Amino acid sequence: MEPCCLRLAVLASGRGSNFLAILEAIQQGRLNAQIKVLISDKSDALALQKAEEAGIPHIFIDPRLFPDRQSYESEIVKELKSRDIDLVVLAGYMRLVGKVLLQSYPHQILNIHPALLPSFTGLHAQRQAVDYGVKFSGCTVHFVDDGMDTGPIIDQVVVPVLPDDTEDDLAERILEQEHKLYARVLQWIAEGRVYIEGRKVYIAK
Ligand code: GAR
Repeated sequence: MEPCCLRLAVLASGRGSNFLAILEAIQQGRLNAQIKVLISDKSDALALQKAEEAGIPHIFIDPRLFPDRQSYESEIVKELKSRDIDLVVLAGYMRLVGKVLLQSYPHQILNIHPALLPSFTGLHAQRQAVDYGVKFSGCTVHFVDDGMDTGPIIDQVVVPVLPDDTEDDLAERILEQEHKLYARVLQWIAEGRVYIEGRKVYIAK
């Protein structure tokens, strides 16, 4: 068997559609990677069920069992290290990442956010965009740092906001683009083409 490739861990708190889109990209040969594990902080996350159905190892780690973020993240790191993970992919993981994870995986943690950062950070980004009245929003894949949605931006896709859009309409239009964007960025990383200088991220041709 061909020695494979970028070893991914996906962290997800919810529905898991980005996880499935990444898995589909791998299965279709658009992304040269393997998902070695899906970890969730929510026992009832649909993502866990989807991983089960797809035959991907999955773990629920209950943050309430740990006295603080550091010990919770140490448990995550233990699971990641035991699987030789190269890259940690946050896909709807609704927690701030702390220093234990960041120091264990420097510039090796990615997040996708449903807005054109630095606008509309945090929760309900699509609702924030609709309420603000912007004409365009979109999605962003970025490296994770110690802020909320503040790390160096790797790529973004612009999505129009239509006059009668509800939050859900916009979320659906953005999500379609998220699924393509994440797989594309991960493939650039798999090809060794992504590098960072300060806040700027460059993609080698
Ligand atoms: C996605 O829209 C993702 O961008 C967003 O949560 C959703 C997860 O959907 N993430 C954030 O808002 C992080 N700040 P999914 O579980 O179906 O992939």
